[in-house]
Amino acid sequence: MAGKTGILVIGASGQIGTELVMELRARYGNQNVLASDLKNASDEVKESGPFELLDVMDRDRLHQLIVQYNVGEVYLLAALLSATAEQKIMQAWNLNMYGLFYVLELAKEGFIDKVYWPSSIAVFGPTTPKLNTPQSTIMEPTTVYGISKLAGERWCEYYHNRFGVDVRSLRYPGLIGYKSNPGGGTTDYAVDIFHKAVSGQPFECFLSENTRLPMMYMPDAIKATIGIMEAPSEAVKIRSSYNISGFDFTPVELAKEIQKHIPDFRISCKPDFRQAIADGWPCSIDDSAAREDWGWNNDFSFEQMTKDMLEHLTEAVN
Ligand code: NAD
Ligand code: SER
Repeated sequence: MAGKTGILVIGASGQIGTELVMELRARYGNQNVLASDLKNASDEVKESGPFELLDVMDRDRLHQLIVQYNVGEVYLLAALLSATAEQKIMQAWNLNMYGLFYVLELAKEGFIDKVYWPSSIAVFGPTTPKLNTPQSTIMEPTTVYGISKLAGERWCEYYHNRFGVDVRSLRYPGLIGYKSNPGGGTTDYAVDIFHKAVSGQPFECFLSENTRLPMMYMPDAIKATIGIMEAPSEAVKIRSSYNISGFDFTPVELAKEIQKHIPDFRISCKPDFRQAIADGWPCSIDDSAAREDWGWNNDFSFEQMTKDMLEHLTEAVN
């Protein structure tokens, strides 16, 4: 980190940020990891280290915090996700684009050494090969979120090639975790379903029963995120964004896996506007480039994730 020991997480109160902050603090020291968000953080995040309210669109405050906390690395997680972005088009474009620009510009000017910015499987579209979607392929996203993520990928690569900015990125699939609630995504059903299952309620899914999507358990997402940030610069050959994946399933397959542990659990499907979003996305992902370039591998299978989610959520309910 070239003398700058601070790490700034922007969007730290969200689904990924809540877990990423705690893992970064465990590795690099509580006081070195500044959590920030528009909204308040979890007690765990606030009590274990520094937290500041920050709107990433406030460029001056962003700059000020980076200097004040001696920040060398920024993890930019603030974004509007796929379902919310369809309802708030301009807000999503502005946040998803300008938040990234402000961070990339500060890196270009030498205030930040390294940037992490997540992309998504939403960069693909209906014309993309759906099975084992390759790293480089047709990319014609049809959602506001997907368009913003694809543009973001191109800007990351541009700032790296033109200005030498050390920016690293992953195309996350749907992420499943038990520590916080997801915020406005199309894959969120795969989190909500577990909460219903452990509380003994049936689940009505907003996607159709055979909608297959790529997914990943949160501990693997955190491992991948820190893995690409810790990789030697020369190993990170792709500076747009890397495909990564854990497993894939349909709502019915997930319900059947849950029924192995909770036999009475029931699912019904009533697709809404999110079905059209999911229909444009891949079913499964080829992440061999990440595996070959910087040694990515996932720890959790579909079955292990289901068991672990149910164990943790059952513990929380009892
Ligand atoms: P989330 O919605 O749970 O969290 C985003 C956080 O950003 C929220 O806490 C929100 O308050 C904060 N935020 C919003 N506007 C802000 C602003 N102007 N300034 C500062 N903070 C602001 O999202 P997440 O699931 O944690 O996702 C984080 C990132 O990962 C996003 O870029 C998302 O596109 C990407 N991603 C997530 C998934 C997934 O399945 N969760 C999949 C692919 C990509
Ligand atoms: N999980 C995210 C969403 O559904 C994909 O980026 O929006």
